[in-house]
Formats: sequence, C-alpha cells, structure tokens
Amino acid sequence: MAALSIENVKKSYGSTQVLKGINIAIEKGEFLVLIGPSGCGKSTMMNSIAGLESITEGRILIGGDDVTHANPKDRDIAMVFQSYALYPNMTVRGNISFGLEVRKMPKPEREKQVLKVAQLLQIEHLLERKPAQLSGGQRQRVAMGRALAREPKIYLFDEPLSNLDAKLRVEMRAEIKKLHQRLGTTIVYVTHDQVEAMTLADRIAVMRDGLLQQLASPQEIYDRPANMFVAGFMGSPPMNFIEVTIQSSESLTISAGDQQHQLPIPQGYDLSNYIGKSVILGIRPEMITEPVQHKAGLPEVSILQLKTLLTEAMGADTMVLTQLGDKELNCRINPSHGVQINQYSEFMFDMSKAVFFDPQTEVLI
Ligand SMILES: Nc1ncnc2c1ncn2[C@@H]1O[C@H](COP(=O)(O)OP(=O)(O)OP(=O)(O)O)[C@@H](O)[C@H]1O
Ligand SMILES: [Mg+2]
Repeated sequence: MAALSIENVKKSYGSTQVLKGINIAIEKGEFLVLIGPSGCGKSTMMNSIAGLESITEGRILIGGDDVTHANPKDRDIAMVFQSYALYPNMTVRGNISFGLEVRKMPKPEREKQVLKVAQLLQIEHLLERKPAQLSGGQRQRVAMGRALAREPKIYLFDEPLSNLDAKLRVEMRAEIKKLHQRLGTTIVYVTHDQVEAMTLADRIAVMRDGLLQQLASPQEIYDRPANMFVAGFMGSPPMNFIEVTIQSSESLTISAGDQQHQLPIPQGYDLSNYIGKSVILGIRPEMITEPVQHKAGLPEVSILQLKTLLTEAMGADTMVLTQLGDKELNCRINPSHGVQINQYSEFMFDMSKAVFFDPQTEVLI
C-alpha cells in the first residue's frame, strides 16, 4: 500500500486551473522530490496534501485512508513551509517543543527530543531566543526543527533550505539525507535546486504548469528525460539541442552553414522511422569534451571542429561555449586542456548517451 496516493488531483482558483490532474503514488520510506519552474503548482500540491487547501477534484490517501476532506491536524503530517511561520511569542525551545506538548509527550522526553534536533540543526545556542532575534536562515532551521521533533507519517518540506547560505545548505542537505536513511520516513520535498533534487530523491517528479512531466529516478530523469522540457530543466548548463537529419540507422548529419557533419547514432537506438527526417538531438555538455585517448576509436565517438566563444573555469572542469554553424553548444572540458577564444579546436562527441526528440511533439523518441 502506498504511504501517500495523489489521485487525479485538480485544483482551481476561480477560473484558473493550477493543478490539472496529478497522479503520484509514494511508497513508504520514499523520498520524493517535486521540482518545476516558479508558479507550476508545487506549493499548491503540498498545501493540498497537508489539507491547508481544499482540492477541486480527485482524492488524496495517506496510508490507504482517504483524507481528501480530513482536517490538517488529523493527517499526521509535519510540514515546513516555504514561508515558515514560527510562534513569535515563544522561544526557539518553545517553538520546537510545542507540537510535542500538544501530542502529550512527557516533559523529560520532550526536552531530550528538542535538544536532539537542535544539535542536528546547529541551533542549540539559540534555544532561548525569540524568532524576531533570529536571522532568516536560523528561523528556517527552527521551522525544520519543529517538524523534525515529531515523528509523523509523512514529512512535507517546501523549499526548507531556500534561506540558507551555500555552505549551510550543503550541510543541511547531507543531514536531511542521513536523517532519511536513519528513520526511513516518507518525505515529499519541494526544491528549485537541481543538485538537491538529484542528491536527495529516490524519485523526482518534474512539474510544469500544473501537470506532471515525468516521475522517475534521478538518473532516469537525467539520462532519459521524457521530453525536451525535462531535458532542458534538469542539468546545468542544460542539455544541448541540435536539429539533425537521420541519414541511416547508424548515422545522422548536422548542417552547419554549407558544411555537413556526421555523427554516429548510439547502438540500440531505433530511429528507423525517422530516416530522411529531422529530429532533435539532445547531448549533455559533459559528452562534448576535449579528445580523450581512452575513447578514441569507439564506434559512438566522433570528432568535430568547434569554435570557442567563451570559457568558464569551474575548478574541477571548464565549461566552454562553442559554435557549430549558427548553433551554440555547451561543452565541458578538463581544465588542463587549453582552448583559445575565437579559434577552432577538436571536440569529441560521445554519442553513447545521446537522446532524440520528435521536433513536433518534443517527446523523447
Ligand atoms: N490563493 C491563490 N489564489 C489565486 N491563485 C493562486 C493562489 N495561490 C497560488 N496561486 C497561483 O497558483 C499558481 C501556482 O502557485 P504555487 O504557489 O503552487 O507555485 P509554486 O510552484 O510553488 O511556485 P514557487 O516555485 O514560486 O514557489 C501560481 O500561478 C499562483 O499565482
Ligand atoms: Mg512554492
């Protein structure tokens, strides 16, 4: 039985439909990340699960029980909101222990629990302060603490780390992951951050405009994006899209100005229905690199001359913006490999993970 079932959930505000029929079944202990552009309906989905918003159509089940019309407090959910609301008149300690008090946990146990989450979130030294005396990031951690102190059926996190600085964010991300591994709690987690999505999720749900685009493991989303939207949304810099013509079952051509370049089609990729037609090739920046010895001569690898427009040293690797005809391509090279601005140099296309999209529907072929 699914820990949480979202069945054909629709939600409208007046005549605007914000959720257009969402279906997700989340297993017990699963970490589901909800990601998508601003305004696509993520918070609305979360608020609907929590019962803070009523839905227009569909059902929500928690542990098999239909809670579509249940009161938020009867859903056994702990939630951290995007705009976290703390009780302003209570100390940090009071804020964290309040939910436990309401649930009649004995005082000694409560105190132990407060201390435990305070340690976890590095806010022990703030326990006697009021929310007004905290920074945004500290308040956010208190809000997290309040949720984590309880042990509900489901945690709902709506961008819980958005106010933290980069370093703390990475630390907290690791803490959340450890916590999930230790407790095995069911979590639904909203983020804008792709790295957070990729590293935390068992499965990622990509949303766009009130509709689910893909629901799959992080690797599947990255390697086999369901459509061009998902492909472009996940990955930074994004996947390159190039219009190509399928030549045969083994090769395709790219026209760049008056030149034609050939690239191999990955083995096992069936494009036989598209021979002679245009499709969109999707290739990730890390698959267009400087020529590397160990891949030379592999059947799925080809070398093209590309003009370098811009380089960005990232430390571990260097991003290179190149030009092929009138197209710009993002490539990722080893920093020890030199390329010169406005000069042509050899780039190796590794097509083994290339994907193809139908130019009309933008759906993965
Ligand atoms: N109470 C409301 N009345 C009318 N429209 C609303 C209301 N709440 C949200 N919306 C609209 O519903 C859409 C989805 O909002 P939602 O907050 O779910 O987006 P989101 O995906 O969480 O975005 P973000 O990433 O910016 O937090 C938006 O277009 C928003 O303007
Ligand atoms: Mg939101």
